[in-house]
Amino acid sequence: MADLPSIDIIEPDLDAIATAGGHVCVFLPEDGKLDKMARRVNRLTKGALERVAGSDAFGKMSEGDAVKLAYPSGMAARSLHVIRLEKRTKGNTAREAGATLGAALGKEGALVLASPGLKGLEDFLLGTLLRAYSFDRHKSGDEKPALGAVQVMTSDGEASERLNTIKALASGVHFTRDLVNEPSNVLTTTEFAARLEELRSLGVNVEVLDEPELEELGMRTLLAVGQGSESPSKVVVMEWSGGGVEAPVALVGKGVVFDTGGISLKPAGGMEDMTMDMGGAGTVAGVMQALAMRKAAANVVGLVGLVENMPDGRAQRPGDVVTSMKGDTVEVINTDAEGRLVLCDVMWYAQERFEPVAMVDLATLTGAVIIALGHENAGVFSNNDDLAKSFLAAAEAESEGAWRLPLGPGYDKQLKSRVADMKNVGGRPAGSVTAAQFLARFVKDETPWIHLDIAGVASMKGGTKLAPKGATGWGVLALNRMIADGYED
Ligand code: BES
Ligand code: MN
Ligand code: ZN
Repeated sequence: MADLPSIDIIEPDLDAIATAGGHVCVFLPEDGKLDKMARRVNRLTKGALERVAGSDAFGKMSEGDAVKLAYPSGMAARSLHVIRLEKRTKGNTAREAGATLGAALGKEGALVLASPGLKGLEDFLLGTLLRAYSFDRHKSGDEKPALGAVQVMTSDGEASERLNTIKALASGVHFTRDLVNEPSNVLTTTEFAARLEELRSLGVNVEVLDEPELEELGMRTLLAVGQGSESPSKVVVMEWSGGGVEAPVALVGKGVVFDTGGISLKPAGGMEDMTMDMGGAGTVAGVMQALAMRKAAANVVGLVGLVENMPDGRAQRPGDVVTSMKGDTVEVINTDAEGRLVLCDVMWYAQERFEPVAMVDLATLTGAVIIALGHENAGVFSNNDDLAKSFLAAAEAESEGAWRLPLGPGYDKQLKSRVADMKNVGGRPAGSVTAAQFLARFVKDETPWIHLDIAGVASMKGGTKLAPKGATGWGVLALNRMIADGYED
């Protein structure tokens, strides 16, 4: 499980401000008014805070921006972060402010001087935890020291309780990132399943279905994708039962541990990025961990299809016709359109077994969604306006970009096959929509459903304010919120 820096509440103690090593964070509102702790910092630094507050630079700073004073005299700190933040400011502004601390956090840790009534404190700390992440387990050489503790000085007696939620969310996001960043020779289908089995320690019921069982269930389209790989295909079912007797929300993830394209081989340039083609499954895993850690009062089941798409003597060929668990037949025109072949069987199984109140699938499904929406938004497709709205509202509240795209019978026509019930590609026009349209054929009329195409947002070459380069963990927060707002007592 991912290592978060520890984060603890400490009682206000003005004398500890002078002796704290590492980073000290102090908040200043626009009017430059200093609270008690800030006044102590100001006194120790012989008026540095007042000089910051009165400077032109401070006047020009935006909410959430910080001035960093290195090795401030009068203090043991290596760095004093003076953060411009109003007491009422919450949400992403506060998170991004916290991320500045998260990026800087070293082994010495930090002391956050939380002004009384600072509404954005939790968001600030969540931002710190989200950004205090690096994926360096494969870098040899000096062992990197663990990140130091974050201490939060506040008189708010209930802050500690609320911190548990933040820790659950951040560790869910880190879990997703660890999975998505992991190279494919390490994160094989078997290793992926083993990491998911660790969720048992949090009270999640985890079941691993292996190839003979999948064969028995009739998941031929999923198995066809994995049949060219040495890594055995698996479906992992994770159940969190924190609610009552109601049917669960089902989360379904595409877990292609590596996508070469198969016999329809991808070009070499950039193929290494396909190590993240299990991003949907990684997100489902992160949500399950977050829900379990915060003991969510909801029933949620996560199902992931773990396969590897390889060219091989046993691999499926373009032109093959395979039968899905549902019974519909698919002509495989392009073996690189494999995600939908995996998802359609897992989605069908999810509905047959759990009759979910809602089903959300996540997948790094199409390059076309990156052409349409870039790396700013995931593509959202749905057969149910209320569910779509609730997800979009949750994504907006978490500042995770999401944009709805259409479905419709016109697009569905593109999937007509001469020899089978459908083909697995719909040609160049609207490639993300026809992929979604393919999935829609495996959604029962009574199942409210959302498909999230996360190909553009699961991993980011340049990083984001809240994540370093690589995996982002996009969707963990939005799905957690959608569940908290819509399905929890
Ligand atoms: N895994 C890819 C989609 C992808 C592309 C994810 C870029 C992340 C970044 C998917 O399996 C794929 O290969 N899709 C094809 C579909 C096509 C053959 C219809 C694509 O997008 O080109
Ligand atoms: Mn592919
Ligand atoms: Zn793929």
